[in-house]
Amino acid sequence: MSLEGKVAIVTGSGRGLGLAYAQELARQGASVVVNDVDATTAADAVASIEAAGGTAVAVVAPVGPTETADRLVQAAVETYGRLDILVTNAGVLRDTVLWKMSDDDFDTVIGVHLRGTFTCVRAAATHMRENQVAGRIICIGSPTGQRGNFGQTNYAAAKAGIVGMVRTWALELARAGITANAVIPVAATAMTATVPYFAAAVEADAAGEPMPSFFRHDLGFGTSDDVAGLIAYLASDAAAAVTGQAIGIGGDRLQVWSHPEPVVTAYHDGGWTVPALEAEFPGLYAEQSVGESFPPLPEALQR
Ligand SMILES: NC(=O)c1ccc[n+]([C@@H]2O[C@H](COP(=O)([O-])OP(=O)(O)OC[C@H]3O[C@@H](n4cnc5c(N)ncnc54)[C@H](O)[C@@H]3O)[C@@H](O)[C@H]2O)c1
Repeated sequence: MSLEGKVAIVTGSGRGLGLAYAQELARQGASVVVNDVDATTAADAVASIEAAGGTAVAVVAPVGPTETADRLVQAAVETYGRLDILVTNAGVLRDTVLWKMSDDDFDTVIGVHLRGTFTCVRAAATHMRENQVAGRIICIGSPTGQRGNFGQTNYAAAKAGIVGMVRTWALELARAGITANAVIPVAATAMTATVPYFAAAVEADAAGEPMPSFFRHDLGFGTSDDVAGLIAYLASDAAAAVTGQAIGIGGDRLQVWSHPEPVVTAYHDGGWTVPALEAEFPGLYAEQSVGESFPPLPEALQR
């Protein structure tokens, strides 16, 4: 097993994708600190890992505050003697259009995803640096953070911010041999179960049947287990040279995302005045698309 002797923290791992990550890391030999706000799902997650022959302990606490981040690192060190891997996965949604989004909708999502990622990575990376551990930081982004999405101002800000932080951490942690990557997952979970477009896939999954190839292949939409292999790979010694990347995964599909690059570079002697822009900008402008574009749903898969 590739992670024998290593210790991992996975935030929000009581259910959904986080649970699949925790189970796969344990299957590969890591001892896992499971974390969730829901005590029952956290206990069930630990029981499922132990029933499969793995090792895990639960810390029930909300990710966001520094105290939780410190408690998670402390639990790894006190229970298993070290910390090698951190997966920042905990998340919530408060979807609504900009003009209806409350301060609380915004702050809640930013608090769990963006601040929770920052506080947990800061605590883990500090411990790894101080103990000369060539650790693995794996942060969870979203297609919404990469492209924008209607009704998700708060979530787009948090997820784009996470990828921005990952690029920065890849630079800052390189000398310590610590890698930092973002995984952009897509899977059938409580978060996506109600999206009408995915209904046929969710239905097949619930019935224990394989999801139609349109979803797995064309859309890159599958189960949580389909995402977990990439998490375990990035956590392993085999991925020591992979850092600063944003990697999309879902169903049968893997995608490496580019980071933003200028697509047009133009110069104007003396600088770009308004008249200069009025004269030249229309001819320079290469429109960049926003939002995800889904192919039309085949008739047989419409619900
Ligand atoms: N499902 C998808 O297709 C998809 C796509 C892109 C990104 N993601 C991201 O993947 C991650 C997991 O999503 P999921 O679909 O499994 O969602 P989910 O709602 O099934 O699971 C999220 C888990 O996080 C826990 N949680 C919520 N707030 C917490 C907090 N403050 N501290 C600790 N735990 C907390 C929840 O109790 C739950 O167990 C999230 O970051 C989400 O944004 C999911």
